[in-house]
Amino acid sequence: MPTSTDGLLTVTDLSVHYSGQPALRSVNIAIAAGECVGIVGANGAGKSTLARTIAGLVRPAGGQVSSDGVTLTGMRADKVVRRGLAFVPEGRALFTRLTVLDNLLLGGYTMPETSEATALDHLGRLFPELVERKLLRAGQLSGGQQQMLAIARALMSRPRLLILDEPTMGLAPTIISRLAIALTELREQEGLGVLVLDQRRTLAERLNARGYILRGGRIVASVTQGQWDDPGLAQHYMADTD
Ligand SMILES: Nc1ncnc2c1ncn2[C@@H]1O[C@H](COP(=O)(O)OP(=O)(O)OP(=O)(O)O)[C@@H](O)[C@H]1O
Ligand SMILES: [Mg+2]
Repeated sequence: MPTSTDGLLTVTDLSVHYSGQPALRSVNIAIAAGECVGIVGANGAGKSTLARTIAGLVRPAGGQVSSDGVTLTGMRADKVVRRGLAFVPEGRALFTRLTVLDNLLLGGYTMPETSEATALDHLGRLFPELVERKLLRAGQLSGGQQQMLAIARALMSRPRLLILDEPTMGLAPTIISRLAIALTELREQEGLGVLVLDQRRTLAERLNARGYILRGGRIVASVTQGQWDDPGLAQHYMADTD
């Protein structure tokens, strides 16, 4: 009999405060293995706070985060990565003065014996155009290429869940489609679960995700697959948060 904490990711009654001000209020979400979930919300809705708390970078005031029945709440960020959760932060956080290849190798720090050859093989299957740019500094890549590299770097830890904070920021629709295709392939071929937190619904829609609307630190609506363009939902994330 599965329990409520059996899923790939289970977030229960999660609350986060900054200097006493609530940023997340009793958030509940669940992701099953290989599932694709979108969380859409406006500026300040709490998307990054939620992503960073799941990733072990923010300590919650209350509630719990677990994965496959193991409690992640309070676990150090590197331990969370070892549990199979990989996080691509807002703004990508690449080492812009290091090469594409070195950024990739750093993403594999939790895996023993990550070689240059395996890193490049991995990159070639995901985003081949980055292989020929392997010796460029990450800061010399276009915005779309940087997002691809950030995703490829996170995938070096062989996660079961990839958490993407604001991945479509500044990207052209064609690049968003590329990302959707790559993520869908990983999901179908390797059972990768994906959690996308974004201001726009575009990527969640392209991934055929189900999901949630976050507003003022609360989940205010659930979204079923194919329902992202429901006009009733847009009011929640187009409007300013309370
Ligand atoms: N380090 C911090 N210290 C104090 N307040 C913070 C901090 N980080 C976020 N906040 C506040 O918490 C709330 C949620 O912020 P958060 O960054 O999680 O929102 P977001 O949905 O990611 O927004 P955006 O779309 O602009 O990235 C906001 O009111 C913000 O001002
Ligand atoms: Mg954010």
